[in-house]
Amino acid sequence: MYVLGIETSCDETGASVVEDGRRILSNVVSSSLNFHKKYGGVVPEIASRMQLETITAVTEGALKEARVFLKDIDLISVTSKPGLPGSLLVGISFAKAISLAQDIPLLGVDHTHSHIYANFLNHKNIRLPFVALIVSGGHTSLFYVQDFNRIQPLGQTQDDACGEAFDKVAKILRLGYPGGPLIEKLARRGNNKRIKFRCSGTVKPLNFSFSGIKTAVLYYTQLHSKVHSVKQSAEKADYRLSTIDYRLKSDIAASFQETVIDTLIKKSLLACKLKKTNRLLIGGGVAANNRLREKFFLETKNSSLKCYFPVKDLCLDNAAMVAGLGYRLFKRGISSNLNLT
Ligand code: KG4
Ligand code: ZN
Repeated sequence: MYVLGIETSCDETGASVVEDGRRILSNVVSSSLNFHKKYGGVVPEIASRMQLETITAVTEGALKEARVFLKDIDLISVTSKPGLPGSLLVGISFAKAISLAQDIPLLGVDHTHSHIYANFLNHKNIRLPFVALIVSGGHTSLFYVQDFNRIQPLGQTQDDACGEAFDKVAKILRLGYPGGPLIEKLARRGNNKRIKFRCSGTVKPLNFSFSGIKTAVLYYTQLHSKVHSVKQSAEKADYRLSTIDYRLKSDIAASFQETVIDTLIKKSLLACKLKKTNRLLIGGGVAANNRLREKFFLETKNSSLKCYFPVKDLCLDNAAMVAGLGYRLFKRGISSNLNLT
């Protein structure tokens, strides 16, 4: 069975053809990232306008690379929530139009659930049930998954998402956007024990909070920055520039990253214990972080708990995971119609 997946929940435009929920025949992703960089974050209006411009070419590219025609497609699976409304609207409208014109069944799927499914694209024998941790730019959630139509939320962030905290800390350290990979790179040179940051506690133990640690990084950075007065020409006023020593900057990045990862591990292990499962699946953009992957494996090495990660490309937003999840749900008798919003 060939499923065409379409993903437009944030700044990416993705289309992919996946056979029988497993074999990726194509996975095309076009990103509008470069247009957002100078604003330090995704500008929704730019994202949806770019998606409108690229979605046809991206989908044609995915079909061509998979060597299939639209008439061969058995299902269109599209991200229908959660995400930027304008961006989702582009993908959903496009999917509906093809479904109507070609008489192909349609299914709207949940973006966070598709991040969980990404694991099934490179691991063959994952047994149900399991606990899943999704860490991305928009979400930080723990789920108990009995099957993909029986997903129980266990906890979520009360404020910033984990990836969002990486992005904001990168902005504080003036590293650029998106911040996750830049923090990771800088942290490799830093001492992760130098500064004692901590994530705020939450009333429910499986919830998360990252806005406090972000503010702590901000205050620490301000306190340890050197302020210089920069002399300009006679016409222009002087301005003050604050700089921070490279060594300290690396230590801040490393200490921040380590604290966040330790919190994610602690809560995920607690969720596994409470749900009495020894399988933990991790997904979402932050799951591409090498230190996070390494620490999850290290912490569970001597236990019966097994951790699963998607390959790095499939941690980030893509349409293959959307196609895969669509296949799985469709097989369970689930589908949508043109009323999908
Ligand atoms: O899953 P994703 O592509 O989009 C959403 O659904 O949000 O995740 C994007 C997020 C961004 O916040 C980005 O900074 C973060 O994932 N990210 C990382 C890394 N690569 C991407 N965070 C930490 N380390 C990384 N290597
Ligand atoms: Zn995502």
